[in-house]
Amino acid sequence: MLAFNWKMNPETLREAIDLASISDCKNAVVIPPFLFIEEVGKILKKAKLGAQDLFWENPSAGKGAFTGEVSAKELKNFCVEYVIVGHSDRRHKLGESDEVVAKKLKTALVAGLIPILCVGETREEKEFGKRKEVIKRQLNTALANLKPKIKNLKLIVAYEPVWAIGAGDPETPGNALEAIKYIKKLLAENFNLKVKVLYGGSVNSKILGDYLKYKEINGALVGGASLKKDEVEKMTQWI
Ligand code: PGA
Repeated sequence: MLAFNWKMNPETLREAIDLASISDCKNAVVIPPFLFIEEVGKILKKAKLGAQDLFWENPSAGKGAFTGEVSAKELKNFCVEYVIVGHSDRRHKLGESDEVVAKKLKTALVAGLIPILCVGETREEKEFGKRKEVIKRQLNTALANLKPKIKNLKLIVAYEPVWAIGAGDPETPGNALEAIKYIKKLLAENFNLKVKVLYGGSVNSKILGDYLKYKEINGALVGGASLKKDEVEKMTQWI
């Protein structure tokens, strides 16, 4: 699976439509900004539609006085199937805490959206040998509220080392594999959960195959390269 996270791009609807039409492949999830979700959704025939975030308050009502926020129900009404939760841009640039991530995860699951839960360490944490500790804390907090009724839960995890995102400096496939195996082991042992885990962080068409050759790495979450048509064309040949 390839999840294309467009972040705050492109600038115009025309560009969004162009990009959506070349990204429209089976096993792709196209994740545009909220503004373009409706029109991109109309274009996609094979790919699934995703959102970059959601709000956690008032999940059953799906509406309310929350300026600037978008609810799970609103996303469902536009045929969104996947939603990114806890992306490092939000955790580290916008101060989103593990607890907020947990609320968003629960809201997404209750609404029937498939969350792509992002976890990963900063450069400093990596240098202090804290990768596993950070992953464990982020997963345990995110899933804590769900423990009693975790069966049959549809969840995707993306291992995205913060320092590798948008940096042109990906984690090596071997180290990514090790982290991903750890995530799978932890979720199986602590939550009786079997999940798909993606790698994310400076993935492009040249290196994608180096990750996908491991059966434990179930795909990639791609940012920058998902905005370039020639890159998208090459990357979608893998799925
Ligand atoms: P990148 O972004 O591919 O540009 O590193 C990945 C992501 O933020 O999900």
